[in-house]
Order: sequence, then structure tokens, then C-alpha cells
Amino acid sequence: DADPEDSPAIRRLADWDADRLSDIADEHDTPLYVTDLDRVAENCARLRAAFPDADLRYAVKANTARAVLEAVRDAGLGAECASAGEVRRALDAGFDGDDVDYTAVNPPERDLDAVVEWWEDGADLTITVGAADTLDRLRERGYDGRVCVRANPGVGAGHHEKVRTGGAAKFGVPAERVAEVFASARPDFDVVGLHAHAGSGIHGDEDLAAHREFLARVADLAGDVGDLEYVNVGGGIGVPYRDDEEPLDLDAVAAAIREELDGLDARLALEPGRYVVADAAVLLTRVNTVKGAPNELVAGVDAGMTDLLRPAMYDAFHEIRSLEPDSVDREEAPVTVAGPICESGDTFCEGRPLPVPERGDLLALGNVGAYGYEMASTYNSRPRPADVSLAGELLRERESLADLTRLER
Ligand code: LLP
Repeated sequence: DADPEDSPAIRRLADWDADRLSDIADEHDTPLYVTDLDRVAENCARLRAAFPDADLRYAVKANTARAVLEAVRDAGLGAECASAGEVRRALDAGFDGDDVDYTAVNPPERDLDAVVEWWEDGADLTITVGAADTLDRLRERGYDGRVCVRANPGVGAGHHEKVRTGGAAKFGVPAERVAEVFASARPDFDVVGLHAHAGSGIHGDEDLAAHREFLARVADLAGDVGDLEYVNVGGGIGVPYRDDEEPLDLDAVAAAIREELDGLDARLALEPGRYVVADAAVLLTRVNTVKGAPNELVAGVDAGMTDLLRPAMYDAFHEIRSLEPDSVDREEAPVTVAGPICESGDTFCEGRPLPVPERGDLLALGNVGAYGYEMASTYNSRPRPADVSLAGELLRERESLADLTRLER
């Protein structure tokens, strides 16, 4: 078992074994995700140490690789699922139905049909409901199992406007209607919890302050509705992406949560996604072309926004490091690292100081384990990359050109 005491709070690119990564790239080609399953277990162990009594449910959407799900399950966490597809993956990876939450955000009919069918077949999962009429849709299907009500406390936090859910109208039951929805649910379902999620990538003082405000409001709502098995305060625990950022102090986060929820007679539940997997994977890519003036170098690489969307979508920062042994002796210059997609947004960095790149260089992008592979697409008819464990096991095959047209009729 992973020992949280021996496990650093963050793993930077420089902590990966460059020779090992290079060998894996030679064997499996690029672009390539490399995932360290031991690091997944360590991250789970550190969460467990900080939140010894909480229900921890891994937000499957961050990384759905079967081997990752199994590592999380082995570490004793449950699964939080955003769709029927995620519920299916969690059950297939061996999570007990009891440990599976289906967070139904505007759930499609087909998803409700599937999840209720699996519940009828014996998966005793919990459905987290964010709208009064979702309860009706469950009643119509004869569901009377566990339900958790998702509230919208009206305050969000997170690394980008696009991922702050706490205030966005599409999520949850508005605070002023929460009591009424609980009252309507209680006679028909086994109502076990109150849920709220502030947003993703909570990191830094401003976010932590907003998160406290969020927690205070959740505590108020929980006090109002009473009689709860648990209060689920969502995911959102951030990780440092830049090398000058410090990792969050998990114990301080835990203390803040305890303080704000103090006095409630309910277990704490949390749904961390990013924290579990972010620093457990790197993306390897090769430089195919170098051009531009000495101070405006562009390194064209074989990975693009189709493999890692976060920089294009959120202006997210990912550390980039050359894995070439001689790169330490090279001069640094401002480099734009760009993918092969026909969009100007398809860059991983612009004018970032890096060792002067050469054609054929192998580069690594750090902290891509969360929302990296998962947001990959086949835009520009680019097959999705492969994902290999650090131990060398193929987790997800590289898509082929034939896969691109497989569903066409
Ligand atoms: N619970 C709920 C209800 C969520 O919606 C999410 C994330 C989580 C838990 C997990 O949050 P985490 O611990 O990972 O912050 N694609 C974006 C992140 C979107 C997060 C969506 N919801 C990104 O790449 O930054």
C-alpha cells in the first residue's frame, strides 16, 4: 500500500525518469500518454490521510482508463459518475454499486433508463438529482432507491470561468428551493445526502476564500434540511501546474471544511477528480519541424489540441520539458510549441523559455493525467493517442485511421 508519508505533495516533470520515458516513446511512438499507476495510489493515500472519515468518491470523468479506475478502487475510494457511460465503466472496473454515485446533470432519457436498469439488476447506487423534475423522471421509472439532492449554493470557485459550477444556473436546485425539493423527495425515495460542487481547480488564496463561502452556504442548507447521512461538498481540490506554485496543504483544506461544517450530524463526502490523477501522467510528443527567427522559434510537434485540449480551451499552463540528454547544454530561447491542427489556438505555450529545440526532440508535457486523454478528440481526423503505464502496459491503444471511419455508413 502507498504510504502517504513517503509521497511528495506534487510530482513535477523533473521527477520523472527521462530515460524510461524515452524508451517508452521509442516503443509506442508519439503522441503518447504515460500514466504512473503507483502515483494514482499515492494520491489516493494522501487524500485518505487528510480525510480519514470521509466518503471519498473519485470523479471518474478526470481519467476513465480501466487501470486507473482499478487503482482507485483498490485504494478504497468510491466513484462519482457524470453519465451512464461512466457508471458502466465504474461497475465494470469492480466498484460496488453502493460506492457509485450517478450525478445526473440534465440527464438524457437514455442515461436514466440505463442506470435504473442496472439498479434493478442489483447495483445499489445513489442518484444525485439537480432538478425537481428529475425526481419525477425517476418516479416514472419506478426508482425508489437512494437519492441525493444537488443544491446550487450560488457561489463558485475554480481555475477558469468555464469550470466554476457553484453559481451557474444549469447546476443543482437553487438554494431557496432546496427545502421544498427535499420535502417532495423524502416520501418516495431513500434521501441520503445533500450535494454541492463549487468548481474545479481550486487553488490559491482567492479561490480558497470563495470555497469557504461556498462551504458556509452548504452548511446552512444542510442545517435547514436536516436528517442527512452525508453532506457532499463536491470536487475541486486543485494542483499546482506552474513550477513556482506551491501544492495545496490538504490538511488545511480538511480543517477548513471541518470548521465550516462543524455541528452537522452527517458524514463528509468529497469527489476529487483532478487531485487523484493530474500529476500521474505525462504526454510525450516529438518535434517535427522547427522554424522562425531565433527569438520567435516555433517547434511544431506531433501532439495537438486534439490530444490535450486544456491550453486551447482554458489557456491552461502545462509544464514542458525536453527529454533530450543534451538539452541541458543548449541555450534557452522563447519557443512556441504548436500542434498540427489548423487553428491558431492549437499551441501548448507561446514564447516560453525552453532549450532551443531540434527536429526529432522528444518533449514531455506535465500534469496531464486529469482531463487530458478524456477531452481528446479526432478533430482534423486525428486518431486519438495511446496511453501506456509507466510499467509498460498498454492501457489504451492508439486509434488507427480505420477507426476514424468505422462508424460511417
Ligand atoms: N464533482 C462534480 C459534480 C464535478 O462536476 C466535478 C468536475 C468533480 C466532482 C471533480 O472536480 P475536480 O476534483 O476534478 O476539480 N475539464 C476541466 C475540468 C472540468 C471539471 C468538471 N467537473 C479542466 O480540464 O480543467
